[in-house]
Amino acid sequence: MLREHPLRTKPFPSRKLYGGEELWELAEALRGQTLFRYTGFKVRAFEEAFARYFGAKYACASTSGTAAIHTAIAMVNPDPGDEIITSPITDMGTVAPILYQNAIPVFADVGDDYNLDPESVEANVTERTRAIIVVHLFGNPARMDELLEVAEKHKLMVIEDCAQAYLAEYKGKLCGTIGHVGCFSLQGSKHIATGDGGMTITDDPELAKRGAMFTDKGWDRSKEGPRVYPFLGLNYRMTELQGAVGLAQLGKLKGVVERRRELAGMLNERLGEIEGITPQPVAEGNRCSYWQYGFTVDRETGVFAEQFAEVLRREGMPADAGYIGKPIFLSQALRDKRTFGRSSHPFDYPGVRQVRYEDGLCPKCEDILNRMVLLPFNEAFSEEDIEDLAMGVRLAAEELF
Ligand SMILES: Cc1ncc(COP(=O)(O)O)c(C=O)c1O
Repeated sequence: MLREHPLRTKPFPSRKLYGGEELWELAEALRGQTLFRYTGFKVRAFEEAFARYFGAKYACASTSGTAAIHTAIAMVNPDPGDEIITSPITDMGTVAPILYQNAIPVFADVGDDYNLDPESVEANVTERTRAIIVVHLFGNPARMDELLEVAEKHKLMVIEDCAQAYLAEYKGKLCGTIGHVGCFSLQGSKHIATGDGGMTITDDPELAKRGAMFTDKGWDRSKEGPRVYPFLGLNYRMTELQGAVGLAQLGKLKGVVERRRELAGMLNERLGEIEGITPQPVAEGNRCSYWQYGFTVDRETGVFAEQFAEVLRREGMPADAGYIGKPIFLSQALRDKRTFGRSSHPFDYPGVRQVRYEDGLCPKCEDILNRMVLLPFNEAFSEEDIEDLAMGVRLAAEELF
């Protein structure tokens, strides 16, 4: 049924991320006459405040979420050809650093919560597995107890990718503090943002030291005299500008997450009444931080996410189907193993597991992506915006099912 006017005619509100707090911090950084972290004070203050906020002992700032994950992998320090298991529903920033550190990404399938299925993770463990990178997708905590059990049994490190999961809670614990290392992104769309930026947290002093040196070209600044570079690192140093904005943003994080939870709660209630769709399941006792609001169209309806999102878009609601569209391992670089020069390093390294990235590798992931719809959503939305979204979903369901 085509109606004359779309349900929603005005745009949804944009986020208001920055204000006087950021300006004040930035002005102070500029007045310091240096924007370099080791002669300034903002990045260090941001690291200390971040660590305190999360109840972690150490925090290491970097240039992006990708850099934060690369730093975590450098802390693990795999041998070339070692394997790291991760989720097929994630950003390339989770996977690229595995390859840049010469390790092999292995993809386990996901469960109904869109996150790693511990059974599939265990089935993918080999003698060469060194770590699991757990992605808490859209801020929904993954099944950490079972994942930690697998990790302990096989002596694996656990890195939590919390790029989308600021203040997400798993059984009362903050995501990012449950495994050995937690990684965050400060890219523009995240709960708190500095344009680009990243943070890696841990309680382990050895890992923390290694991480800090890795982001500083491997330089051990604690040694006096000629420069000492005990191992290879990169320059992933955050500047004072990001540090200043990050400090101000941290003060707003709780409010951002609380408002998102409130709005998502309203959506959950309204969408829960609509037959044929299922909001992303958040396990009892956990708290999602809703970087995105996602639901799946039930298999029995025979309708795909793209059809559903199309109706919502027609009704003035810019919904998105399938997030990354297909499992991350089917992106060209990974599927065709296009890595360094004419080689497919590290896939061609002697003795490594011959992984194939192809359709059918993670059937549950493919199925969920085909049925996943993401609604426009942020903390600036009003109740009226939520009502419109719920109405749009109801209308799409009535039209398609
Ligand atoms: C789950 C996840 N991991 C890693 C990243 C990489 O972060 P960045 O874009 O800051 O490099 C992102 C960012 O989109 C992400 O969503």
